Amino acid sequence: MRPDYPLKTDRLLLRPFEPGDFDDLHAYRSNPEVCRYLYGEAATPEESAERLERSLAMDELTEEGQWLVLAVVLDDEVIGDVVLKWVSEQHRQGEVGYTLNPAHQGKGYAREAAEAMLKVGFEELELHRITAICDPRNEPSWRLMERLGMRREAHFRESEMFKGAWGDTYVYALLAEEYERAQA
Ligand SMILES: CC(C)(COP(=O)(O)OP(=O)(O)OC[C@H]1O[C@@H](n2cnc3c(N)ncnc32)[C@H](O)[C@@H]1OP(=O)(O)O)[C@@H](O)C(=O)NCCC(=O)NCCS
Repeated sequence: MRPDYPLKTDRLLLRPFEPGDFDDLHAYRSNPEVCRYLYGEAATPEESAERLERSLAMDELTEEGQWLVLAVVLDDEVIGDVVLKWVSEQHRQGEVGYTLNPAHQGKGYAREAAEAMLKVGFEELELHRITAICDPRNEPSWRLMERLGMRREAHFRESEMFKGAWGDTYVYALLAEEYERAQA
């Protein structure tokens, strides 16, 4: 499955990462605030370069376990990324994720980009269920999940060792039939 790029939303373009995206990508991936609830710390230039290199090829899904990684573009600037993991072919399960440059948060752009990824997941990949997970302290993230129509299915207590301490996990999900009902 390779979407027909660029994907267009009201205000954004979603497209595969390109070699020239380093400065924009590093601008937000090197920000400690952005990484607070992500695995890993603020990226060094070398780590951002490696991330960009890996992301360049993540523009299609050919087998389960792979991630689709797309640049979120506003007026020629990459302001963040959205991802869709093909979790299981047999069970038609996926997972979405998103990261935005703080300069562009609070304007509904993450929601717009995530909605486009849900569309890809349900309409192109024909997934049955798409999940999203976050740390309960990451309120902007779970509030976005709720704006996307996702339901909180689980609150796992101390389910992982996160940055040196036990961390909880929220699991949100949306079924294809719920997505279709919301579209209608
Ligand atoms: C999670 C994250 C992507 C959410 O970004 P966001 O910009 O808050 O999310 P949205 O796109 O849904 O924007 C919602 C906000 O924009 C506001 N907004 C302004 N104009 C809007 C519009 N036209 N449409 C929708 N919302 C709009 C909403 O009112 C809301 O504001 P509020 O949070 O004060 O209520 C962002 O916090 C982030 O990148 N965090 C760091 C990385 C991270 O933790 N990722 C998640 C890992 S699980």
